[in-house]
Amino acid sequence: MSTRHADPCIIVIFGASGDLTRRKLLPAIYNLAESGHLPPAFAVIGVARHDMDDSAFRAQMREQVRTAENEPLDAAKWSHIEDRLYYVAGEFTDQALYTRLQRVLATAREAHGLPANYLFYLATPPDLFGVVGRHLADAGLASERDGWRRLIIEKPFGYDIESARALNQELMVGLHESQVYRIDHYLGKETVQNILALRFANGIFEPIWNRRYVDHVQMTVAEHDGIGSRGTYYDAAGALRDIVQNHMFQLMTLVAMEPPISFKADDVRDEKVKVLHAVPPLSDTDVRRFIVRGQYAGYRQERHVAPGSRTETFVAMRLFVDNWRWAGVPFYLRTGKRLTKRATEIAVHFKRAPFALFRQTPVECLDPNVLLLRIQPDEGISLSFHAKEPGPFERLGTVTMNFSYAAYFKSEPSTGYETLLFDAMMGDQTLYHRMDMVEAGWQIVDPLLRAWAHDASEPAVYQAGSWGPPEAELLLERDGRAWRC
Ligand code: BG6
Repeated sequence: MSTRHADPCIIVIFGASGDLTRRKLLPAIYNLAESGHLPPAFAVIGVARHDMDDSAFRAQMREQVRTAENEPLDAAKWSHIEDRLYYVAGEFTDQALYTRLQRVLATAREAHGLPANYLFYLATPPDLFGVVGRHLADAGLASERDGWRRLIIEKPFGYDIESARALNQELMVGLHESQVYRIDHYLGKETVQNILALRFANGIFEPIWNRRYVDHVQMTVAEHDGIGSRGTYYDAAGALRDIVQNHMFQLMTLVAMEPPISFKADDVRDEKVKVLHAVPPLSDTDVRRFIVRGQYAGYRQERHVAPGSRTETFVAMRLFVDNWRWAGVPFYLRTGKRLTKRATEIAVHFKRAPFALFRQTPVECLDPNVLLLRIQPDEGISLSFHAKEPGPFERLGTVTMNFSYAAYFKSEPSTGYETLLFDAMMGDQTLYHRMDMVEAGWQIVDPLLRAWAHDASEPAVYQAGSWGPPEAELLLERDGRAWRC
């Protein structure tokens, strides 16, 4: 985190009674207080439909943060936060709610000597993003006359390119792009941010980070859990929209981007978006050959899932980044629910060394060197290479050098939202999606969604606890490769 300070401000959470507020946002605010990154002058206003007064909200949040932290709260730190918690009830579609909100904002400002800097967090269902944005603008709460106004929007930003553009237009009526923070919680993960440090703060990787040395890249976002209670959302979204279009594409841009000219938000985002623009559009034949969609057995029996649903809970795909650095290097992406284990990993497979020298030895083949970025869990980085086994014969073993975050940095547990909230309070948009990035992501995914919509075939069924349907293995086998696990 930066040594700069977050501005004093009021965070307004729309959807304060929801899961995200309870599990992530309030715990993140508490963790920021613990690490000394919360500005001393701040307040939080929760907004939701249920009727509740400030003290009930405070008690509820105390309980929920304690549960999320799984340990007793630091009394002084928590009471500093609790004294600054407020609650406003109402329907997000009702303009009167925003009038009441203005009054509570004024009360909080006066009570805590705060400037009119407001950070609005839309932790609402996606169909309310535009509605809340419009009402905020109508109430004059988007105008930056007397302080900054920023809007954090949860995903998904649209469900295809058209709807994303329509939502953006709705927001842009009252806001400027510099006020809109489209969140992707993957970018808040330390290990994701570390991809840039690994690539650009070390002299040894950059020279080999290209098509001359890299054979292919594998990216996996595997989840052990199913869809839980999110059937309504998930059945309409599917894995492609839920994970690939945002989280996985962000990982891919960080791996494939050119060095930015600085770490300023737009310099970084300019380079990231170029990666997405370099992905050639997928034809119908590509979709049939290089995209696998799967569904776990039992998905259709989950709550709020349509009986004959063809929604994919698994996707595997082969993409190219057709630019000077990466031409001809496949990027294999796979994600799924109810897989063998929870693991997010990026495996950079380097080209094999020539075998010639080992022809007359017992060595049968040379495995490629693999640089493995373990995003979660067991966060770290490892490099595998060959070493000679001790003894008179020329036998090789594959060994690994391993770096573990936990062992080295002994970092405090975090929700991943701390950095993102802190950056938004500082006005740093680097880790947030710019609109052209959102569009570029949809541009890749849209042809696929269209092809699937016209394709009557069923997704391949896979067993819970497996690595997805066999078709995903074949995708790599056809290219003479295999998934790392
Ligand atoms: C969310 C998706 O964005 O990311 C969920 O909507 C998914 O379906 C979650 O489970 C995964 O996040 P994490 O941080 O647990 O990898």
